[in-house]
Amino acid sequence: MKAILLAGGKGTRLRPLTVHTPKPIVPILNRPFLYYQIDLLRHVREIDEVILSLNYQPRRIEEIFGEGEGLGLRLRYVVEPMPLGTGGAVRYAGDALTESVVVFNGDVLTQVDLGAVLRLHRQRKAKATIVLTPVENPRAYGLVETDGDGNVKRFLEKPGEDEIACNTINAGIYVLEPDTFDRIPKDTAWSIERSFFPSLIERGETFVAYVYDGYWIDIGTPAKYLQVHQDIMAGRYAAPPFAGAPPSHAWISPDAKVEEGVEVQGPCFVDEGVTIKSGARVLPYSVIGRHTHVEEHATIDGSIVWPNGWIGPEAVVRGAILGRNCHVGRNATLSPPAVLGDKTIITDYSML
Ligand code: GDD
Ligand code: MG
Repeated sequence: MKAILLAGGKGTRLRPLTVHTPKPIVPILNRPFLYYQIDLLRHVREIDEVILSLNYQPRRIEEIFGEGEGLGLRLRYVVEPMPLGTGGAVRYAGDALTESVVVFNGDVLTQVDLGAVLRLHRQRKAKATIVLTPVENPRAYGLVETDGDGNVKRFLEKPGEDEIACNTINAGIYVLEPDTFDRIPKDTAWSIERSFFPSLIERGETFVAYVYDGYWIDIGTPAKYLQVHQDIMAGRYAAPPFAGAPPSHAWISPDAKVEEGVEVQGPCFVDEGVTIKSGARVLPYSVIGRHTHVEEHATIDGSIVWPNGWIGPEAVVRGAILGRNCHVGRNATLSPPAVLGDKTIITDYSML
């Protein structure tokens, strides 16, 4: 069985982080995001191949994952000639398929039991099965209404305030039957949410919902990107190196140089080759990327710093996200929700 990972979006809401790093590979604790999704797919024994549907900076992604060596499943890349939207991408990547396929948005992190979703799909002989999850505010998602038997009755992408009649949204995970793909027009941009799903409902086809209320997040905004890190470090989502670690664990790479007189409060993550000078403070929910230097009396608090940063003496970095190779001058102060693109230089004493 195959799975299609939709990973071709530009990640506009995560800019500037996604200018040089496509969203599917933004690092979560220094591990490209797609690894977390592949981990989930790998646990479904039937899935032996993942098709990565790409168009934005595909080379960068291929370089990291190759053909999936060591991942326990085969990876294949399908690069669209132009962005085809979520529906067009499914048709383009899945045109030759003849058996049920799992489709996954490339920016969601979850622990849903995909085996159980597949069982429901087969038991109901569905044309499509969609995972739903409850959220507080459905505005930014696809709102999905169901009847008492778990049939999808309405799909409304990005509903207006006055259209919200329930709290279950599209979690971005589907099982689809390829014999429905012929209704997706070829080679034009087409939305699975705005066109394909409503068309299934109109035609009265068996379209069922699997409601999941465990861990689920879309990492597509800076706030959610910070949230994912906090969830992993707090143990709300089990992932290395925090899975099974004691609460408030400060994970420090064995080859990081942490001088005497540094205050480190977990949970936090200090990666390979990092140097932290005396008097500096690393406060909870901080991630310090590879080879970053944190100078004397600097403070990193609840922030994510990508590799090769330099944080000057007495600088304060709070609730911020810093891309690669950022330079924060001495005594500079960054406050939430600061998000710096790669190679940003913040001059001494600046306040952001
Ligand atoms: N290949 C390809 N081509 N992939 C695409 C394209 C495209 O043209 N456009 C978007 N994608 C990928 C994105 O990379 C992402 O992984 C996924 O499709 C969904 O796109 P987003 O841009 O992240 O959509 P969203 O978050 O606003 O809404 C979607 O996800 C929500 C759940 O997180 C919708 O599916 C909503 O209905 C859903 O609730
Ligand atoms: Mg998204």
